[in-house]
Amino acid sequence: MNSLATMAVHAGREDLAKLGVHVPPIDLSTTNPIPDIESGGAAYEALATGGLPPAEGGLVYQRLWNPTVARFETALAQLEGAEQAVAFGSGMAALTACLTATVAAGKPHVVAVRPLYGGSDHVLASGLLGTTVTWTTADGIAAALRKDTGLVLVETPANPTLDLVDLTAVAAQANGVSVIVDNTFATPVLQRPIEHGATMVLHSATKYLGGHGDVIGGVVATSAEWATKLRQVRAVTGGLMHPLAAYLLHRGLQTLPIRVLTQQDNAKRLAAWLSDHEYVQRVHFPSGPLVGTQMSGPGAMIAFGVAGLDEAARTVAAVRLITHAVSLGGVDTLIQHPASLTHRPVEASAKPHAAVVRMSVGLEHVDDIQADLDYALKEAHR
Ligand SMILES: Cc1ncc(COP(=O)(O)O)c(C=O)c1O
Repeated sequence: MNSLATMAVHAGREDLAKLGVHVPPIDLSTTNPIPDIESGGAAYEALATGGLPPAEGGLVYQRLWNPTVARFETALAQLEGAEQAVAFGSGMAALTACLTATVAAGKPHVVAVRPLYGGSDHVLASGLLGTTVTWTTADGIAAALRKDTGLVLVETPANPTLDLVDLTAVAAQANGVSVIVDNTFATPVLQRPIEHGATMVLHSATKYLGGHGDVIGGVVATSAEWATKLRQVRAVTGGLMHPLAAYLLHRGLQTLPIRVLTQQDNAKRLAAWLSDHEYVQRVHFPSGPLVGTQMSGPGAMIAFGVAGLDEAARTVAAVRLITHAVSLGGVDTLIQHPASLTHRPVEASAKPHAAVVRMSVGLEHVDDIQADLDYALKEAHR
């Protein structure tokens, strides 16, 4: 399979015809019959240490392995061009597993480029998981590395400013330290970080991968070596993905390319319109040399600045078609105020500007989104 659109439809489904079914079966078993204690014990040992299920011995227990989750992982790994993928109960559980694994390896120091999603910023700034962090800019990574640095973490496009980071330059500066890229905003449709030197690609699967606002999940696409460590962390911490979530996410992948590309078309129109709007001071939307190279297009997230906090608060409150809510990447347009909500835990010096609102552009007709936004901006400035 070469085209991403074809892969999105068929990946993780290769054996279905042989099974005599057309859609993936949902396996809800929490436990699995064990043939005998020797092979069952060997399977347990393999799975609890992050290995793959052996041919004999059963799958043992859902926290260790689940076939429906494994199908989604196989599909996502193919889309990202990774050896394997490991799914978790949320994007934050996925990041937690990466951080736990680096602490366990005796490398608790993380070099991170701001901005990041507020929750990711929070987990690093709080040191809650035993990591320490050096915040830097993309060109300060090499200088921030220490002997105990286990991870370099970047987000591109970044939440909420849509800043871009040159991943090839990041990988060069990381000098062999594992680079984790949060690819939630771009998705593999627009950007495949492993091709640019990333070690791990993280998604809040809750967003574009699911695409319909009805499932929470996280996933990391990476090498077999890292995937083994992450599965071990998942097995012992229990941050697993439920098979019903995996089924919905796997189904979501089938329409991912068409959704992302159509939402991107809407966003391009809206970004251009917003930049001429009388009440909009600044539009944040990916542009420059990395768009068309590292990313095939700018994506469907827009942030824009209005006159101040009051105008921002009134704009998000005045929408009627668009929903005022956190999260992103679904079929419907959402708008929110990062400084108050998604980036609330971020320390004052790194918080998004109070006049900025962030919009996840959906699949509605672009004229309708534009009309609603125009109404909200005018209401906010009356
Ligand atoms: C870029 C990014 N990464 C990670 C997360 C965390 O994902 P989750 O909410 O699925 O835990 C989010 C959530 O908004 C996000 O926007």
